[in-house]
Amino acid sequence: MAKTRSAYFCQSCGYESPKWLGKCPACQQWNTFVEEVLERGNTKVPTWRSETGSRILSKPSKVTDIESIEERRMPTSDAELDRVLGGGLVEGSMVLIGGEPGIGKSTLMLQIALNMRNRKVLYVSGEESEQQIKMRAERIRNQDGAECYILTETATQNIFKQLEALQPDVVVVDSIQTLHSAHIDSTPGSISQVRECTAELLRFAKETGVPVILIGHITKDGSIAGPKILEHMVDTVLQFEGDRHHVYRILRSIKNRFGATSELGIYEMQGNGLREISNPSEILLSQREEELSGIAIASTLEGARPMLIETQALVSVSAYGTPQRSATGFDTRRMNMLLAVLEKRCGFRLSIKDVFLNIAGGIKVEDPAIDLAVVVAAISSHEDIPVSGKNCFAAEVGLSGEIRAVSRIEQRIAEADKLGFERIFISRYNLKGIDTTRFRIRIEAIGKIEEAFTLLF
Ligand code: TYD
Ligand code: MG
Repeated sequence: MAKTRSAYFCQSCGYESPKWLGKCPACQQWNTFVEEVLERGNTKVPTWRSETGSRILSKPSKVTDIESIEERRMPTSDAELDRVLGGGLVEGSMVLIGGEPGIGKSTLMLQIALNMRNRKVLYVSGEESEQQIKMRAERIRNQDGAECYILTETATQNIFKQLEALQPDVVVVDSIQTLHSAHIDSTPGSISQVRECTAELLRFAKETGVPVILIGHITKDGSIAGPKILEHMVDTVLQFEGDRHHVYRILRSIKNRFGATSELGIYEMQGNGLREISNPSEILLSQREEELSGIAIASTLEGARPMLIETQALVSVSAYGTPQRSATGFDTRRMNMLLAVLEKRCGFRLSIKDVFLNIAGGIKVEDPAIDLAVVVAAISSHEDIPVSGKNCFAAEVGLSGEIRAVSRIEQRIAEADKLGFERIFISRYNLKGIDTTRFRIRIEAIGKIEEAFTLLF
């Protein structure tokens, strides 16, 4: 038996050190080192296909001699996932899908595994029993499921044995943190185990051409599986996010070796699985008959996808000495900055008011083009004057109250136009080079916040 060896790993980047360090020399993070026992048995044992040892030795070749082949993709039966992946699963690729517990990762992957037609899918679960997965599968509708196999196993060596016997077309692993490899002695979920298991699966994917989808849990601070190393190893990193108490979920691509990262998939969690949403704007705008104050609609872009999103603000006299400020789905610091701009540049006395801001649908927006809608919603609530639902907004607000240009304005205008909005407020610096005559919608190009208020109230 080999001697016990322990090492310290940085939780953030996976840096290995023989002793504990306060600050990681690789990623400069503080207090991220944890000790792990590495007891390597026979390090010479290769990982998958150990007996046959069929790994082909690779040789260097000239880039001009390498045959260029179109990467082969297989559609996944799920239009949203295909879009995010850049047109389907690439053969031999490894996809990591991360998300908080309970967000719906297992549901999504099982649903895809059940619906993939004419493909043998192996769903490896280390988290649930066969019965639990069966129960979940029964809840999900539209399933075919004839070629979906379930394996409840956590030892990678056994998984590889089953893979060789079954020869699936796609493998799903739920989740990477539950797997353990016999080559390493630390507990499942530890950095060295996660890294080793991913490396073994990666070799399997590259050598057989079978795509592997890994599910990974996200830690509290938002990084996948603690160590960021996983993100470096895989080809594609997707993040499944949303508010657990809302029904909408967003599938975002963070890294993609085979496509753009600007694509985005949207789902609705229903009692019988996740439903793909192909037209997000229509559901994100709440239906209402009367016009209410404190609501403004922003034409935002999530990735490359235009979406009209409702921003709601409530501004009321503070009952306590210190006013409350809270925002859901929007950065609170940015909200405070916008409120300060309104106070200083436009003379609204907001510092004595409680301000609550909410982005409808539980969606988180980072697009700066939502600024103008936030400002308008706040003033609409403050003055208690509704803004007509026929108006929408797409502009960033600067510190001096100027209205700044945003990216891809034509796409935003086109989406608002398509949905029947009558007026869109944009920055006047955005007008350059766009053909406004092709839109039916009236375009209000403004340079200062006050201009928007004069036009609206
Ligand atoms: P799950 O997929 O297990 O989340 P994760 O694998 O990311 O931890 O489940 C997410 C939640 O979705 C769970 O609380 C129950 C709910 N759910 C539905 O609303 N509808 C369904 O059809 C299913 C299967 C689950
Ligand atoms: Mg799960």
